[in-house]
Amino acid sequence: MSTVNLTIDGKKVKVSEGTTVLEAAESLGIEIPTLCHHRDLVPFGACRLCVVEVDGAKSLVASCSYPVSNRMKVRTDTERVIRARRLAIDLLLSAHPADCLTCEKSGVCLLQKYAYEYNVEGSSFDGEKYDHAIDISDPFIEKDLNKCILCGKCVRICEEVQNISAIDFAQRGFNTTVSTFSNRPLTETACVFCGQCVAVCPV
Ligand code: FES
Repeated sequence: MSTVNLTIDGKKVKVSEGTTVLEAAESLGIEIPTLCHHRDLVPFGACRLCVVEVDGAKSLVASCSYPVSNRMKVRTDTERVIRARRLAIDLLLSAHPADCLTCEKSGVCLLQKYAYEYNVEGSSFDGEKYDHAIDISDPFIEKDLNKCILCGKCVRICEEVQNISAIDFAQRGFNTTVSTFSNRPLTETACVFCGQCVAVCPV
């Protein structure tokens, strides 16, 4: 496989053709925030937290799905990049419960981590909030869809890695949720309660 030479934040790197900008940055030890990316899954490009600036590109690109090319120059830390990431976090927080102090996931929640790192104290958007009842109908998994950021990791790991497809996106727009077919309990689906969906959930 041929190799590609590029520069990220002024550092030169040589990687295989087909590598994404995110992977190339990781090989240099440069951390780019991600919420919907998982190395074992096909890139999804949903959260836009991984955006970077590429010389010559009109808009910011999602590094998790953007392939490297020869002599490419990438910046991961410009003011424009930081502004875009802050906006992405701000938008996610606009529909997210602000209950970090009592949330089970506090301390290991990636949204909380990035909100802290990017100094986003809350949302500047006064939008509609989710009002889903917490689902405790399944024996092993409790679902609080109010916290879901629709990164799709659970759906994709169930399909792409476990080959089960017990869950999928349902509805549209603001009403989009992760659900089973006809919103049946997981016990009535092909789910084997492997726990992969819970393990990859960033929130
Ligand atoms: Fe790239 Fe979510 S990690 S768009």
